[in-house]
Amino acid sequence: EKVCLAYSGGLDTSCILLWLIEKGYDVVCFMADVGQEEDFAAAKAKALKIGAVACYIEDIRREFIEELCFPAIQCNAIYENVYLLGTSLARPAIARAQIEVAQKEKCQYVSHGCTGKGNDQVRFELAFYALQPSIKVIAPWRLPEFYEKFAGRNDLLDYAAKSGVPVSSTKGKPWSMDENLAHCSYEAGILEDPDVTAPEDMWKLTVDPLKAPDKPEDFTLVFEKGLPVKLVTAEGKTITDAVELFLESNAIARRHGVGRIDIVENRFIGLKSRGCYETPGLTCLRSAHIDLEGLVLDREVRALRDQFVTFNYAKILYNGLYFSPEREFIEESIVASQKNVNGQVRCRVYKGLFSVLGRSSETEKLYDASESSMDEIGAFAPADTTGFISVQAIRLKKYGDAKLSKGER
Ligand code: ARG
Ligand code: SIN
Repeated sequence: EKVCLAYSGGLDTSCILLWLIEKGYDVVCFMADVGQEEDFAAAKAKALKIGAVACYIEDIRREFIEELCFPAIQCNAIYENVYLLGTSLARPAIARAQIEVAQKEKCQYVSHGCTGKGNDQVRFELAFYALQPSIKVIAPWRLPEFYEKFAGRNDLLDYAAKSGVPVSSTKGKPWSMDENLAHCSYEAGILEDPDVTAPEDMWKLTVDPLKAPDKPEDFTLVFEKGLPVKLVTAEGKTITDAVELFLESNAIARRHGVGRIDIVENRFIGLKSRGCYETPGLTCLRSAHIDLEGLVLDREVRALRDQFVTFNYAKILYNGLYFSPEREFIEESIVASQKNVNGQVRCRVYKGLFSVLGRSSETEKLYDASESSMDEIGAFAPADTTGFISVQAIRLKKYGDAKLSKGER
């Protein structure tokens, strides 16, 4: 019997790999390149040395950006007002690539190293079942025979050492990380006390805003149908490729310390969890997109989108329901809402902050400077507004009268 294991090269998944082999499985390892800093060749060599029958490394950065991050920018996706969903967005792309390897290798099983308390187990497994309903999942951290054998990190280290599994001598960091092109997350370990401040050397993607350059950096983002299609740097370099554009936004935001947050969030399974996240480029792209919508998006389309689409898209992604009819439906609404979101935003980053210097659109003319002006009358008839206010006041006068008669005013 054959298993496709999501492998990272770290201690946990190396021990899981060995344990699966000892249980008699042929194990195919799978690694997704979603833009994390990683020595893929070394990890692959390690997997094969431990005894994997094969190790696949799939570069899925483009589909991660174009299929997941871009719709998130288009609908300004955010979870619980703060989290930009960096991990949640990567999971569907990773799960799909893993299932493709499992199918190619004719694996009956897939396996992963997620804990039994988190969101990721739910995201991976719901994706696996939606993509390949017959697949069987081995989640070692939920099997008593596994977690009773490996109660802590020392048990894993002992097991690895006894079996000749190479473990890097560097002591593990006192927190858990998940990195991709969109973000890096830090959770668990010393961060579990929500009142312990994250140490400055934890953050790996962005510079400390306090140490960021004293000079701001400006750049321009061009959007078409709500998607970033062009970035022009301060030096005038123009980038149009989706992955390159995302990487450049990351580079700019990283050197100015943009996109750090420290939060306590509600996991799908009902537990609260403290997490620190740095999401440099996506923070800028999303904020610029929100700004452009102010100029070009119809008020009521925007309000409906904010009420129904943004919240639900974030919830669907966070809860691991990407491969679902509701996600297909909501994504069509996202596209429909963005037909006219065309234009450019001039952006600035400085000491951890993103700000907008100006915005314009060649094609969308909802904003009429003379109509909105405080200095000229234009086509607008100010006298009409008197009636508008009177009608709006009918109900409020009734409300005021009722309060007065009850002596509440
Ligand atoms: N709490 C975040 C989320 O649920 C980050 C999860 C990080 N995952 C990890 N395996 N370290 O999206
Ligand atoms: C894990 O539990 O494997 C990481 C955290 C999460 O999935 O939420």
